[in-house]
Amino acid sequence: MTPGGVAFSGTWEACYRANLWSRIASRILWRVGDFQYANEKDLYDAAKKIAWHEYFTVKRRIRVNVTAQKSPLKSLEFATLKVKDAVCDRFRDKLGSRPDVDRAAPDVRIHVFLEEAKGTLYLDTSGEALFKRGWRMDIAEAPLRENLAAGIILLSGWKFDQPLLDPMCGGGTLLSEAAAMARGRAPGAKRDFGFQKLNVFSSSVWEKIRDERRIDPVEPRLYGSDTDPDALKAARRNLGAAGVERWVKLEQADVLERAAPEPAGVLVANPPYGERIGSPEELAALYPKLGDALKKKFAGWNCFIFTADLRLPKLIRLQPSRRTPLWNGAMECRLYEFRIVAGSNRA
Ligand SMILES: C[S@@+](CC[C@H](N)C(=O)[O-])C[C@H]1O[C@@H](n2cnc3c(N)ncnc32)[C@H](O)[C@@H]1O
Repeated sequence: MTPGGVAFSGTWEACYRANLWSRIASRILWRVGDFQYANEKDLYDAAKKIAWHEYFTVKRRIRVNVTAQKSPLKSLEFATLKVKDAVCDRFRDKLGSRPDVDRAAPDVRIHVFLEEAKGTLYLDTSGEALFKRGWRMDIAEAPLRENLAAGIILLSGWKFDQPLLDPMCGGGTLLSEAAAMARGRAPGAKRDFGFQKLNVFSSSVWEKIRDERRIDPVEPRLYGSDTDPDALKAARRNLGAAGVERWVKLEQADVLERAAPEPAGVLVANPPYGERIGSPEELAALYPKLGDALKKKFAGWNCFIFTADLRLPKLIRLQPSRRTPLWNGAMECRLYEFRIVAGSNRA
């Protein structure tokens, strides 16, 4: 484990597969150097020691990202500049020319993580963050990132042969991730990766790996609803772009009024939260009603609610059987599990 991540070692095939198949990672970074430092000069020297020209050609456009925790350096912008200079100087010393910088659409991303006295240099094998699945998403209000949505589905323990309902589906991210899992679709099948721009890249190995199949696809039973017709339109377009619309039944309905689509299954929901789409008072009024609706209509269902609103379990008046802390960007959230059993409304 490293802070905010996990580490593994393996072959390039493993790296290609991890990028292609990981539904929950944000990026897969290749560690190319570790160093101790106290100032910008140490950082420059450490970055200049790396034989960058062996990793990628001078034609590649680069971007350097520096993040830090407890670093004594005053300016991360200046640190970024120093690393960029070191990479370019190393190229110039070796080849007489240097790569260009392109912050918006780089071929090669270099990441530097600085701690108090030690740092690590990485080459990014993913390129664009992995939650970008490579199909155009139509943005509804407050969509979840695809890797967070996939993580929520995995944590719910949903089995592909169980019905899955998102009764506040917004743009349909949870549903499209669930559909992709059940259909055995690689989350990265429709996109490119950073490793394709590195010198070690082998297109024949990549083509073989890209065509591998993992599971026999299942016909999932997925249901989505929302009160907002625009959200449903976005969900329809997103599920269509992901090529999974035929497995998802969408309808306009209020979660407080709709019936369960089948006698038992898994419900996942990400209720509105935040200034833009739900004031604290509106939400405090919604939660007890949501609790009642679940008790009355979803006996036999395992219900998961993902929210940053830590008042939810108290206000919904149901006892969570599990609470999993998760981060939505910088926002601390919880995934609450409520097992609704017949008769629990009378308890
Ligand atoms: C945070 S968004 C969900 C985003 C979704 N998870 C995604 O990734 O696109 C919350 C959704 O709840 C819907 N909503 C709010 N109140 C509702 C209600 N009473 N019944 C059904 N949907 C509701 C909103 O229209 C909104 O689309």
